[in-house]
Amino acid sequence: MIAASITDANTADLLASKLTSTLERERADRFRLEQNRLEHLLGRSILRRVLGDMLKLPPGAVPIETNAQGKPYIDGQACQFNLTHSNGWVAAAFCMGRRIGVDIEATGRIDASEAANLSRLTLSQAEQRLLLSAPADVRVDLFLRLWRMKEAVLKAEGCGLIDDLPGLDLAHLMLRPQGEVRFGDASWSVSEERPENLPPLAIAIETSQDT
Ligand SMILES: CC(C)(COP(=O)(O)OP(=O)(O)OC[C@H]1O[C@@H](n2cnc3c(N)ncnc32)[C@H](O)[C@@H]1OP(=O)(O)O)[C@@H](O)C(=O)NCCC(=O)NCCS
Repeated sequence: MIAASITDANTADLLASKLTSTLERERADRFRLEQNRLEHLLGRSILRRVLGDMLKLPPGAVPIETNAQGKPYIDGQACQFNLTHSNGWVAAAFCMGRRIGVDIEATGRIDASEAANLSRLTLSQAEQRLLLSAPADVRVDLFLRLWRMKEAVLKAEGCGLIDDLPGLDLAHLMLRPQGEVRFGDASWSVSEERPENLPPLAIAIETSQDT
């Protein structure tokens, strides 16, 4: 995994080297917030540099496509990857031959009442029970942990946000650092990381696919 911040000293150099495609730069220019523009460009620059090295192609020539739900991928190649950004941070995760999803979510983005409202809409009954049984001051953190893990699985599968978020029940993963869940056409290994100097993140990697 590679992570960077839009405020890192070498980010400006990376962006100045224009590794991104015209489409990516046009998309970046449509963001209202400068932070979002830089996050998109930084993420795509990291992707193109790493994938270019792997495929022995110039970064700008890496043939990144996007599925109907927005997941970037490269057709016909074993290298799988995913991107996430939050609050100026960007993380890119890579894996050979197995689908991968990553979600970084800065803490402090939502308060207790927002977390309670979102919990009712997005968590399973078991997840909500777990949250309510925890002390009030850790519930936002618990909610964000579940949210990150759900997003990582949804992004690994490639569907993005779904209506039935409570149907993806991850309550059993809350008490251990790593576990498995079935979703869509596959099983996924889900783990959480709290790297130093980086917001917490979750990663989901395909372990087996239905035949
Ligand atoms: C895919 C989705 C779930 C990601 O949303 P997000 O959390 O805003 O974004 P992240 O920063 O984690 O990921 C964005 C990146 O994921 C990738 N991505 C986009 N759609 C994707 C999909 N369907 N599957 C996997 N990856 C996807 C892209 O690389 C994108 O970055 P880029 O456009 O700069 O290339 C999005 O569909 C969405 O709707 N998110 C809503 C988020 C939200 O409501 N958050 C509340 C938090 S409490």
